[in-house]
Order: sequence, then C-alpha cells, then structure tokens
Amino acid sequence: MTKRPVVWITRKLSDATLARAARDYEVIINHEDGLSSADDIVQMSAQVDAIIPCHSEHFSADVAARLDPRLKIIANHSVGVDHCDLPALKARGIAVTNTPDVLSDATAEIAMLLMLGAARRAVEGDTLVRSGNWDFWSPSFMVGKQLTGARLGIIGMGRVGQAFARKARGFDMEIHYFNRQQLPPEKENGAIFHASIDSLLGVSDFLSLHCPATPETTGLMNAARFAQLPDGAVVVNTARGPLIDEAALIEALQSGKIHGAGLDCFVTEPGGNPALSQCQNIMMMPHVGSATIKTRDAMGFRALDNLDSFFAGNRPGDLL
Ligand code: DGY
Repeated sequence: MTKRPVVWITRKLSDATLARAARDYEVIINHEDGLSSADDIVQMSAQVDAIIPCHSEHFSADVAARLDPRLKIIANHSVGVDHCDLPALKARGIAVTNTPDVLSDATAEIAMLLMLGAARRAVEGDTLVRSGNWDFWSPSFMVGKQLTGARLGIIGMGRVGQAFARKARGFDMEIHYFNRQQLPPEKENGAIFHASIDSLLGVSDFLSLHCPATPETTGLMNAARFAQLPDGAVVVNTARGPLIDEAALIEALQSGKIHGAGLDCFVTEPGGNPALSQCQNIMMMPHVGSATIKTRDAMGFRALDNLDSFFAGNRPGDLL
C-alpha cells in the first residue's frame, strides 16, 4: 500500500471536513484550536506533506524561507490569502490554493445583517431594550436610515460583491460599483460601473467593501475618502480590517458625517479596537462572515478537493 500524504489541519474545521480528511489522509489536527506561531509552522512543515491553514496562520516571506522542503502544498481554508506571501511561497515551489465561491453567499448575508443593523441602529436598540431602561417611545425616537431605493456602492465586484449586489436588489437598492475591470452586462445585472473609487463614493449612500487586502488597498477608506461620501452614509466592511483607517472612521462617525458602520473585520484580530466599541452606531461581528454550517463544510471540502487533485498529480482547481 502506498503511504498516504500527511496533512496538518491547523484549526478545528467542521466535523464533516475532519472526517473526510481522516478518511483520505494521515492527519494531524490541532484539537486545541489555538493559534500557531511562525516557529510552530516551520517546525510542523518538516513533518507533513500538506497544510490546511486558515487566515489565522501567517506564511510571511520569513516563514516561507524557513519551511521544510517536505511541505508541498498549502491548501487554504479561506478565500482571502493576504496571510500568505504568494511570491515567496512560489519561489519555494510550494503550491497554494484557496476556497473561492463557496463562501460568497454567507459573507454577503453577514454584510446585509451589518448594513441593516447599522442603518436601523440595531446595537443601540438592542442595548436599550436589554438594559431594562427602555421607558420612552415617540415617532422621533431612534429614527434610522432606509435601504429601499437608496444607492449602494460596492468596492470590489468579485464573487462576494456580486452575491451582495444580488441580495441588495431584493431591497430595491440602486447598485453602483468600482472594480478593476468592468463586468460583462450579464454579471453587472444593471449595476452602474464607476471607473474610479472617487467617482463611486459620491453616490454611495451605503458603501460596502469586498476587495482583497493588498498593499494598494491598505487604508483605502481614509479621512479624505470618508469626506467624499454623501452625508449620513453607512459603511460596511466584511472583507479585511486594514482596508479601513479605523481612526478616520471613528472621526467620521463622531462628527456625524457617517450615520453608522457595520464591521466584521478589524485591523487587530482577534480583539478588535476598543475605540470602535465606544461607538453605539457601529454594529460589529468577530470575523464570522463565512461561519455557517453549510459554508464551513463547503470550505473544508473545497480545500480537500484541492489536495485530492494535487496528490493525484493534477492541477488543483483553485491553484493561485
Ligand atoms: C476568508 O475566507 O478569507 C474569510 O475571511 C475567512 O477566513
């Protein structure tokens, strides 16, 4: 019998994923589910042929240089790969894959939750009722912002951006977007293309970020860009924390320029930002955009599909 490849699964993936992985591979599973340091990753790389990491494990250029030659493939359990220095890993001959498509709807759902929550002041309302201090009602009480008929600006019209646009159409929103390339009409589905972010911001009563974190997109939403939004805009980020300058966001919220924000991602993760927590007009979730049973299974299976192709001598479908 040929020896089965050894796979390190760095976090507690779904039960179905772990069962399939154990069926097909020799698996080393991090049952404690804690974070692994650079040294842990380097050490483990000498014992395995493949790693299935999450975005919580960092493969910097330094780590890539120190990885053991035994490691052949990093099959990410994530669509985002900003935790991987791709050129450095490629230079070491290590294949890298991700899990696109399967998490688009779940992520779009959380973006919708945050957009509605920020627009209709869900944090404030929930806190008030929960505290037992709700002792007043008036037609002018807790008035929010309506989605229906409003203009939604999307930065990054990839799979998640398109899934979010589909859901927003159900709220009769007018969709505008910025993308590096204009989409073909069947994918645009009536959405209005803007050739620059600056052009998009001025029409974004609601703005949602769906682009990857790269050196070019770090701090994309800074003070100057917040100033370009219509007064009382709502900003949603379910992509990556570094896209937003958090200090500039707080200033825009406190000045009243921005009505509210919905965030699933933060510059510091895990943990978030205590200054953001002071703002009742921000609805926050702890980076759980793809955290549904259906999507976690699909992500795990997609990562395993990539491993299966690789070890069968084929090109994995999601090879980067
Ligand atoms: C992703 O897939 O990139 C999500 O952020 C979860 O890791």
